[in-house]
Amino acid sequence: MNLSLGIMTLTPQVTNEYFLEIAKRSLSYPIDLYLFSPQEISPLNETVEGLHFDRVTGKWEKDAFEIPEYIYDRTFYQYDMKSRQAKAVVQWLKNQKQFRFLGYGLPNKWHLYEKLKQTSLSPYFPETFLVSDVNHLLNLLVKHTDIIIKPVDGAHGFAVYHLVVRPNEILVRTTKKQGIVEQSFQSEENFLKWGEHILKQHTFICQKRLLNQTKGNAPFDLRILLSKDHAGQWREFQRAVRVGEENGILTNISRGASYLSYSDWKNTHELISWDFIEEELTSILEELPLLLEEHFSTLFEIGVDLIIGKDHSTWILDMNSKPGHKIVDALQPEKLSSLYKAPLDYCEFLSSQSLSSLKRGDF
Ligand SMILES: Nc1ncnc2c1ncn2[C@@H]1O[C@H](COP(=O)(O)OP(=O)(O)O)[C@@H](O)[C@H]1O
Ligand SMILES: [Mg+2]
Repeated sequence: MNLSLGIMTLTPQVTNEYFLEIAKRSLSYPIDLYLFSPQEISPLNETVEGLHFDRVTGKWEKDAFEIPEYIYDRTFYQYDMKSRQAKAVVQWLKNQKQFRFLGYGLPNKWHLYEKLKQTSLSPYFPETFLVSDVNHLLNLLVKHTDIIIKPVDGAHGFAVYHLVVRPNEILVRTTKKQGIVEQSFQSEENFLKWGEHILKQHTFICQKRLLNQTKGNAPFDLRILLSKDHAGQWREFQRAVRVGEENGILTNISRGASYLSYSDWKNTHELISWDFIEEELTSILEELPLLLEEHFSTLFEIGVDLIIGKDHSTWILDMNSKPGHKIVDALQPEKLSSLYKAPLDYCEFLSSQSLSSLKRGDF
């Protein structure tokens, strides 16, 4: 009997290219592929309405089916009611022993930091504070003068604020659709009012702003995509450099940053001591996935954001268990076929493993 693998997303659309390419490849695997939203699950009879990839027509077809045994979780939550409900269903699903996720996800940025700070990789994490209230925020700002605050459960550069103390003002900068928006506060009182308002909306963490500007004063970072192969072994799949807007804050591709080939970047930035940096990167990338799985839960792929500072220091800034795959498409199209096969290969591998080796995480 074929295995059943369901791609889970809040927006199951036949037009999604990544899903369609995986689906096409599924035909040469003993895997039946489905695409569904957690919102369409009825937990009572464990069925779901969605799409299944028809092996005869080679197309997504509407269908009602049993919840697939294997699940590739590609849900991206927002802060609305719909997301909250979907999250609860997914949590329920994760706790059901009869279903197996390719990856069980990562906890929020603060939990990640708290755990990883106690590991061998601790020197690579920028010091991070959980902002407890607006006076705490002001103290952190006065002490460090140039900081970034971002929601503990943020993604895609959402609600990332850059705060700077200047002689007679506090400058707050953030990224909106139209670009960078700045607000200057000349009195502590006004700043505190703003801070109170912002802290009501999300729980924030705070870090010193790392200096990661190019000569053109655009922020840049490294995005490395790690994933498991057909034997369940971690491998580096892709490495890219992301460059944000001039004078900008973010390097997220979803916020318009461009991406460049790592080797091209290296060749045009010869002054940087790449040998040293690469040695560090190698050891970080070897250890990180294993540490994450040891401390949290089983994963299938990880997108790691790394910043290389002006002083050539290397920092692990962010880890994503549901990374984007655009960088592969644009930079190494010859790898696309193996990108699309990866979830299928890994699903087959999982089916050969005993259930007891699975770590579902407890968050
Ligand atoms: N401490 C920091 N110093 C400099 N830039 C930062 C810092 N924290 C975040 N950024 C910028 O903001 C972007 C988004 O932050 P990140 O921690 O990756 O959260 P997410 O991508 O989940 O929104 C980063 O890619 C980076 O460009
Ligand atoms: Mg990020």
